[in-house]
Amino acid sequence: MTTPAEDPALSPQPSPLKVAVLASGRGSNLQALLDARREGRLAIELVLVASDKADAPALRRAEEAGIPTLALAPKAYPDRASFDAELFSRVAAHAPDLIVLAGYMRVIDAAALEAWSGRIINIHPSLLPKYRGLHTHRRALAAGDTLHGASMHFVTAELDGGPLIAQAEIHVHPGDTEDSLAERLLHREHRLLVACVELIAARRLLLGAAGVCLDGVPLPAPLRLEGERLVGASAG
Ligand code: GAR
Repeated sequence: MTTPAEDPALSPQPSPLKVAVLASGRGSNLQALLDARREGRLAIELVLVASDKADAPALRRAEEAGIPTLALAPKAYPDRASFDAELFSRVAAHAPDLIVLAGYMRVIDAAALEAWSGRIINIHPSLLPKYRGLHTHRRALAAGDTLHGASMHFVTAELDGGPLIAQAEIHVHPGDTEDSLAERLLHREHRLLVACVELIAARRLLLGAAGVCLDGVPLPAPLRLEGERLVGASAG
């Protein structure tokens, strides 16, 4: 016999995760989150979309979806530290549980990140630790890689160096160009991002003292996107 505490139908649902997204450009990863949420596949509340570029299409996508937006121009601040202090204090005013960097193309000051340890994630278009930084598709092609991919990781002060959550792989085809690789990977990025945010929103995945934990168990290796699902050590 199940007690009320064990009956999933009676246990209280966690409140939707409050998410702020930072994006510098096109915003297709943001759109993947918006679509998943609209279609009832992702229980999050988007509290803010912020950008360092006032003309970022990501901001228009957010406006169309009725999400509050913020554009701050780095040039209006004397240095990176003061820009990031202002940006992150404005983001904090919306009280997000999680900040998602989705095509946010600025390095973030270490001091601004301190308060967000374990609550800020980034999607990066390479199989980290390969190709931190820019031009990842070009570098994969130049190296003759046959496998390429994208990574989700928790953000630390080390650029693209924080603990890995999950990766999606694609094969490099003969004749691939930077554009064809980027385009093919982007579809997998969208799925990877939504699947990772889904796990965090379900309070199943977090960054603990022992590293990235899924269902309370440290991950021995990043999860992998297979088809539409994340698989790994204990990702049932
Ligand atoms: C994505 O490919 C994302 O992985 C990459 O920028 C693109 C943004 O696309 N991010 C980085 O390179 C961060 N270092 P989107 O604006 O359409 O989501």
